Order: sequence, then C-alpha cells, then structure tokens
Amino acid sequence: MRLSLRFIIPLLLAVGAIAYAVVPLVDELTLRWFMRDLDIRATLIANTVQDPLQDLVRTRNRARILQLFSRITRDERLFAIAFCPASAEPPIARPTLPPEVACTNLERFSGSSVESHLLNSAQGPVLVSVRPLDVEGTALGDLVLVHDMSFVARRSEETRKYLFFFFVGLGATIALITVAIAQLSWRGWVQGLQALLRGEGLWRPSDRPDAPELRPIAGDLRALIRDLEAEHRSRDEEQLNWTPETLRGILRADLPGHEVMVVSNREPYIHIRRNEVIALWRPASGLVTAMEPIMRACSGTWIAHGGGSADREVVDEHDRLGVPPERPAYQLRRVWLSPEEEAGYYYGFSNEGIWPLCHIAHVRPIFRSSDWEQYVAVNRTFASAVVEEAKSPDPIVLVQDYHFALLPRMIQEALPTATIVAFWHIPWPNPEAFGICPWREELLDGLLGSTILGFHTRFHCNNFVDTVDRLLEARVDREMFTVSYRGKLTAVKRYPISIEWPPSPSLVEKPVEQCRTAVRNRHGLPADHAVGVGVDRLDYTKGIEERLRAVERLLERQPEWVGRFTFIQIAAPTRARIEQYQEYESRVRAMAARINDRYAGAPQPPIVLLVEHHQPLDIYEYYRAAEVCMVTSLHDGMNLVAKEFVSSRDDERGVLILSQFTGAARELPEAVIVNPYDTDQTAAALHMALCMPAGEQRARLRLMRGLIQEFNVYRWAGRMLIDAASMRRRGRLLDRAATPERLSRRPSSGAREGARGK
Ligand code: G6P
Repeated sequence: MRLSLRFIIPLLLAVGAIAYAVVPLVDELTLRWFMRDLDIRATLIANTVQDPLQDLVRTRNRARILQLFSRITRDERLFAIAFCPASAEPPIARPTLPPEVACTNLERFSGSSVESHLLNSAQGPVLVSVRPLDVEGTALGDLVLVHDMSFVARRSEETRKYLFFFFVGLGATIALITVAIAQLSWRGWVQGLQALLRGEGLWRPSDRPDAPELRPIAGDLRALIRDLEAEHRSRDEEQLNWTPETLRGILRADLPGHEVMVVSNREPYIHIRRNEVIALWRPASGLVTAMEPIMRACSGTWIAHGGGSADREVVDEHDRLGVPPERPAYQLRRVWLSPEEEAGYYYGFSNEGIWPLCHIAHVRPIFRSSDWEQYVAVNRTFASAVVEEAKSPDPIVLVQDYHFALLPRMIQEALPTATIVAFWHIPWPNPEAFGICPWREELLDGLLGSTILGFHTRFHCNNFVDTVDRLLEARVDREMFTVSYRGKLTAVKRYPISIEWPPSPSLVEKPVEQCRTAVRNRHGLPADHAVGVGVDRLDYTKGIEERLRAVERLLERQPEWVGRFTFIQIAAPTRARIEQYQEYESRVRAMAARINDRYAGAPQPPIVLLVEHHQPLDIYEYYRAAEVCMVTSLHDGMNLVAKEFVSSRDDERGVLILSQFTGAARELPEAVIVNPYDTDQTAAALHMALCMPAGEQRARLRLMRGLIQEFNVYRWAGRMLIDAASMRRRGRLLDRAATPERLSRRPSSGAREGARGK
C-alpha cells in the first residue's frame, strides 16, 4: 500500500501541474486561432461586398447600402458593419456598431498585430477589421467589420472543461496501472527482469545480444537484482515465522520440484540388535538433532553410514527405509563401509586427524596416509550413492560436516548442475593451525566444489577465507565473501545452527515438579537438593574435566554446598576405539571418583557420572529437573545442549553456564559466560547460578528463549535453502549472460586459476 501511495501521489501532483500549465496555454492558442480565422473571414467578406458596394456608393444609395449591411450581419458572428467613405460624406453603419469604433479613429485598429484589433466594448469582446475599398486605384473608403468574440470565450470554457476531464481520466488511468503493477509484487518484477536477462523475455537465447555496449547494462541489472534479492531476503527473514510449513513453502516457491538430499556420516536412526530384539537408537549428535526435523519437513533422501548392528536387517533391496519408523516422512539410504574403511575414514582421518585439527583442545592430530586413502575412497563411495539416489541432474545436496570435505567437488564433477550446500559443523581454525595438515590443499579443493559453504560463526568464515587465501591460488572476494577457484564460485556464509522450536511437546509434557522429583528419587537425593547437569558426548573438546574441577573448587570455596549440591554428568560414550577417547574416559571417571572420595563424608556425593547413552526424553527430564546446566566446551562450533536446556525450561527457571569458546556464547550472552580453563571463575559462576534470584533467572531465560524461538532450526535450514535457490538462479543467469570472451577465459576443469586477485 505504501508503495502504491509513493507512486500515486507524485503522479497525481504531476498530472495536476500539467493541467495547471496546459489550460492557459490552450486558452491562448484558441484565441489566436479564432482571431486569425476571423481576420480571414473579414477579407473574404470585404472581397465579396466590394463590387455591389462600390456601385451603391457610386449611386449614393444609402438605404440600399444599409439593406446590404443588414443582410450581411445576419451571420451571428458578425456583430456590426460600417462604411467610412473617403469623401466627406457621412459614414453608413449598422446601429449595432460599438460607439468606440468611429470612422475618425480607424488607425487604432489597423496595426499588424492581431491584439490591436481587439476591443472590449460595452456589448462584450469584439474584433474590429478594417478593409480599404478602391476602384481602379481610387480609394472609395474603408469597410469596417466588427466580429462578435463572445463565442471564443464560450469555446474556451468548453475546451477547458474537456481538458479537465481528460487529465483527471488520464491521471486515474495511470494511477490504476501503477497500483496494479505495484501489487504484482517485487518478486514478480524481479523474476520478470531475471527472465529478461536470461533471454526469455524480449529475445531468444539464440539471438541474445552479446554486443559489448550492452554488457554494462546487463552488469547494472545484475547488481540491481542482487540488491533487490538482498532486500527481499531480509524482508522474508523479518516476516516469516519459521515452521516446518515455512520450509515446505520455500521449497514450493523458490525451488519447485527440486529434490533435497542430505549426506552425513551419522545416521538419524540406528538399529541395534539386542539378542532377539532390534532396538532403535537416536544418536547423540548435534548434527542429527538439527537435520532431522528439517528432513521431516522437506522429505527427500538422507544418505548416511549404516553403522548399527541390525541396520542391514531392516532396509529394502536398495538399502533404503522410510523414517521415522512410526510415521515415515523421508527416505534413509544406508551406505555400508568395511571395517578397514570405517577405521581409516571415520576413526582415523576424520576423528584423529580433522577433529583435533579444527578444535583447539590441545590434542595433537594424527595424519596417516593409509587413513587418508580410506577417507578419499569413502568420500567417493558416498558420491556414487548421491548420483544413484538423485532423481534429477540438479538436486540440492546438503553435505554435512568434516567427514566429507572431498564430497562437494566429487558431486560437482558428477552432477555439474547440482546445488551443493556444505555445512561444517565444527570450528575452522586459523591458517597456521590448518596448514599443518598434509592434505590441506586437497581438503580445501574438495570443499570449494560447493555452491555454498556454511559455518556457525563469522569468525569461522573468516578463518576459512584466510586459509584459502594463504594456501590456494584462488580469487577471494572479501566484500561478497566468495571464493572463485577452478572456475567455480563458492559463497562462504554464516548460518548459526539451532534446534526445533517449539520443542516437541512430548519432551516438555512432564511437569517440572515431576521431573525434579523423578531425578532426585533416582539418585537418592533429598527434595530440596540443588542439582547441576551436564550433557555431552564423552569428548575431550567438551571440557568435562574442567567442569568437574570447577565443582570441586566450589565445594572448597563455598563449603555450604557440600551435601547440598550434586552435579550429574551425562556422558554418552563416543568414538571409543580411539585411544585419546579411552584415555579421556578414564581421566573423567578417575576425577569424578577422586572428588566423590574427597567428600565421602557428605550425605550426598557431589558428582554423579552416567557414562551411557540417553534418549532425548530422559535428557529433557534432567534439564527440567536441574537448577543449573553447565556447558564448558574448550572449543565448539555451536553446542546445541545449551539451546536445548533453554528450550526445556518453559517454567523460566534454571541457569545456563556457558563456555565463551562455543558458538552458542555469541548468541546467548544472557547465559553466565565463563572461561572453562579458569577454574576459580567457573566455580564462582556456579555459586552465583545456584544463588541467582528467580526474577533474574526468568529475565535471562526469557531473552534466550526469545532468541531461539526467533532463530530456530527451520530458519537455519530455510536461510540455506533460500540462498541455494538464489545462487541457483544467479548461476543460471550468469552462465547465460557470459559472453563468448568470458567463457573462453574460464579455465578448463582441473586447471588452477593463475592470478591471485583480492
Ligand atoms: C559432532 C559432529 C557431528 C557428529 C557428532 C557425534 O557434533 O559435528 O558430525 O555426528 O559430533 O559424533 P559421532 O562421531 O558419534 O557421529
């Protein structure tokens, strides 16, 4: 509506101004046209009456002259007529002759300008024409013709009226067209413009003008489209309430008919054989937690490693099964790996190499060439699975995490028109740290096969772009955050991952009071006992030792908590075949035992360590039962436990202690932020949290819950899909707009870009 007014008001003003200027001009012109017309008529009448008049004058027959004049003045426009003889004889005139016109003052009306013939007589406006009459060179006298001019005023009045209606009509028509165009929305306009640029509008691709003089115009239009799209996207972000339906809407509107595929190492559902029974497990993985609701919303196919002991027993002949098992919404395609492949690709290169390389957790990465070979081979296996599952040549493939750094390039080579969005769920280190990897160029090259490469934070995007700039001969655009390498453009973007909001009702349906009671009863704790909770995979990046140390320091510094506070650590076993993980588990167990031993005299142990897998429902019960939740990662891409705790507390109670080294700390500053390496500070934070007034807890939680509500996982995925759609459109646009000259400069596949440009 505002848009329409912006057009209509200036338009009506312009039409008004035109009318205001045009009407006097038309008046003036009409007057001149009529006066010139009357002047011509005067000459005509004079010529006509010349002969009869000269005879009558010669015979001095005044009565007949008056009769002739009377006949002539029957013409309504001729007001009066008179003859002024050259001799001394008296003038002969019709009685209607205005008194201002006399034979003695005829010079007054004989000027060359039309205006000089005008007279405003008592009877109204008249035009006076004087025509000399002569016979063979002898002057007879002057014929005076007085024309009535009042009809000119009448005509002008009518013309003004018509002009007024014409301009009002014109203004209304233009305004209506404007409103209609405005209402057709920016998107339609942009699409139309894009179609025009694509050559679908005014010209066919075959006769598309590649003339050099048109290139700047195309460039300007492309820049305009970029701006419009950016504006459109930010509007979308403000307006949309992100739900599964929103995602489906985006797919329908922006990516109609396109299939979405996800590739990750960890599968969303694992089938485990326990004697005669096949159990279904949900893995402890932030990635799976985030992607699962999205796949439920988008359908499509999720390709993952089938790692469960009963996984093969439940798939069809194409290694597929519909999930979730209770109500299938999408396809899970399982990829089988041999023990050697799993050892080299998953345990070795992914988790002993890249994982510690990217996390600053003071664990040395181990790079074995045998692991690298398996990593390459398994990435290739997954690339084949993508090609097999793709129903179209241009699917949207969402490649997840560090297990598949090579996959984007492999998919791009096999399906060049696919849109590949790779998301790196873990941190990206600085160029020096990353540079120690023996296969650093290969990993970067693989990732740069993506259309979009996403990280949780701007800091990780910067690190990646710095790394590319340092290690590859690529063109890096720091303004647009794009990397051009081997003729392919990759946009590097920040997408902070999140969780489902609102949380699934089953997770929060048990009342907080019941959760508190259940957890305290389970662990033999009194009803008023304070409880802290930590939920992690048993991973050295999670800072579990640092957390337990902080609990111990709390008890040293604030002994009033001894026997009144227990910290329950849920630690899901993970990557247990890796030595560093085995050692870590031993250290954590030993530390918990030592602290409990130290306070063995207390009625309740300070630490409860649960090294076992828990289902989401159980985890939410712990969240809802606790006074405080501790997330003390030494380095973490995002950390979804922090967001889950916040979402679980619909009672607006509880305090989140959050490491400053998590991506989540940038989004949840209302948590109590700590440096987990600073034991005293973390212990003080724990004390503060346990003493925090209810009002402050509520205020902090409200802000954090508001943020997660606004930036939920659907928005995370929706943003990627919107960007994928626009990159897809832009890619097609630029391909079509590419001139033969540009195409010939494009390096052939495999060739490195020679020039480094910034
Ligand atoms: C992190 C990684 C995920 C991984 C998860 C669990 O969140 O980013 O890719 O799935 O840890 O690890 P696991 O090795 O058990 O899959």
